[in-house]
Amino acid sequence: MAALVVIGAQWGDEGKGKVVDLIAERADLVVRYAGGANAGHTLKVKGQKLVTHLLPSGVMHPKVRCVLGAGMVIVPEVLVEEIKTCEAIGLDVRPRLTVSGRAHVTFPFQSAIDRASNAGPRAIGTTGRGIGPTYSDKAARIGVTLRDFVEFETPRARDAIAALVEVWSHRARAAGVEAPTLDGTLAYVAPLAREIAPLLGDASVAAWTAVRAGKRVVFEGAQGTLLDLDHGTYPFVTSSNTVAGGACTGVGIGPTMIEAVVGITKAYCTRVGHGAFPTELHGPEGDRLREAGEEYGATTGRPRRCGWLDLPALRYAARVNGLTALAVTKIDVLAGMEHVPVCVAYEVDGATVTDLPVDALDRAKPVFEQWEGWSAEVAHARDEAALPKAVRRYLARIEERVEVPVAIASVGAEREATIVRREVFTR
Ligand code: IMP
Repeated sequence: MAALVVIGAQWGDEGKGKVVDLIAERADLVVRYAGGANAGHTLKVKGQKLVTHLLPSGVMHPKVRCVLGAGMVIVPEVLVEEIKTCEAIGLDVRPRLTVSGRAHVTFPFQSAIDRASNAGPRAIGTTGRGIGPTYSDKAARIGVTLRDFVEFETPRARDAIAALVEVWSHRARAAGVEAPTLDGTLAYVAPLAREIAPLLGDASVAAWTAVRAGKRVVFEGAQGTLLDLDHGTYPFVTSSNTVAGGACTGVGIGPTMIEAVVGITKAYCTRVGHGAFPTELHGPEGDRLREAGEEYGATTGRPRRCGWLDLPALRYAARVNGLTALAVTKIDVLAGMEHVPVCVAYEVDGATVTDLPVDALDRAKPVFEQWEGWSAEVAHARDEAALPKAVRRYLARIEERVEVPVAIASVGAEREATIVRREVFTR
């Protein structure tokens, strides 16, 4: 067996797209298991740039099969649009894509409410892609699955859609936004259902069969550990399980099928939306990181909040995900600094702790160490020996404090700007 989970070890946007794309080169199957069009993976290969929100990052490799699991929520027109964008650049996706009929549909009225409720003191600062409303409806057992969506002409599916529209027309009126109608919704569904019907299949069977046949399978996480519904900085989180365990429930495979878990972290930290971010930089230092790292959301274009690397947060990610390896990205962005501040502990209620005080972040004070910086030459490194000594020391110290080896170091956006220090597949 060789199933690998790749997750974000921070607040998302760690560069999962790039790392999965690299790993996918030798994979047979890449599977997404949670989230929806809130994700945004930017892939740059041979001068071509592709941003995917729903399709897994493995899509750039013509031989890789792609699977979207039951734990996902899908905006049908975004899925169809992404497939067509891939086709326009010569990537034939349809024959190698399986989409779970159990994944839930996000309708335009769910996204509209998500956007309308994104203000006020309790606002989460969501991506406005209807994630919270869709998962809420799923948990309340009034959601519409993709299977219902493509079978909209059957009485059963039509009833399910009608019941959801009914609920939402009340909610929309209460929120002062346009109320959906059944006729309008069915007119929206019909053309998309025809495109999506041939793609539906059983994601669990696809993943299970591949793992059992000894194929290389990658489960691609979305968002990041600290945005997990159960283990993140609630309520400022997304509405799905972003941690590695989410791969089991989101695809329908058992934990014994997973052999390794790679956590992606930037050499610093970013966060979009509201919520705790203890190492955040306000002012020119944060602006410098944002500009150097092009830290603007791939989905919403929002400027990301920027701050220094948080090792207690990485230790937390190592624990809740069972990390077996780390990938450190955007090392080049920190080039040119004499010293790089790194948060190594927290002071909370008079004690110093090296594990993230996740329930006391509002009163925890980060403790920084100043680590030696490196020069811009780092961006040209293509192997371990070419990495500046200070970078090698930086990685070694991360390994020591987080107690997880750094398998991959990324020094630029291109696929080639990546140093694989150790094998991530166990065979
Ligand atoms: P939602 O997932 O759109 O409901 O947003 C909930 C929180 O997760 C907000 O703080 C978003 O900014 C954040 N979020 C959702 N998706 C991503 C992502 O792909 N990268 C970074 N943050 C995200």
